[in-house]
Amino acid sequence: MKIAIGSDHGGFRLKEEIVAQLAQLQLEVKDFGTHSGEAIDYPEIAEVVAKAVVTKEFDLGILICGTGIGISIAANKIKGVRAAVCGDVFSAQMAREHNNANILALGERVIGSGLARMIVETFLKTEFAGGRHAKRVDKISRLEEDC
Ligand code: RB5
Repeated sequence: MKIAIGSDHGGFRLKEEIVAQLAQLQLEVKDFGTHSGEAIDYPEIAEVVAKAVVTKEFDLGILICGTGIGISIAANKIKGVRAAVCGDVFSAQMAREHNNANILALGERVIGSGLARMIVETFLKTEFAGGRHAKRVDKISRLEEDC
């Protein structure tokens, strides 16, 4: 499984931890930055990670900012992205199982790193359930055509 990851300065420290976790899990990971605590606008990172995921270069993406909110809003502007901010393990499971989310967004200033690691593990191991959920996800995609 190939994972694209990125953060702004507000998510930088947590991103470094998650990159190490992904390496430990022996997953292929590309770190799209940021690479320091210096301020960077989250839409810039959201765009590169989101495009890497929708072009199928990567299977899933992880985006981190202070809250997970700004970076997920930005990523969701890219056609084909379903980015879900998750602050608990149940939501991470449902985001994959029901919503076929292709990007997990986390807030470094909201959750601790232990919980973040559990959320990441759950998100990566959970498969989309399909069935009745596929119809709903298709309807989300159709909304993009109206814009
Ligand atoms: C940066 O200070 C902060 O606004 C950003 O990381 C994020 O929380 C935005 O949603």
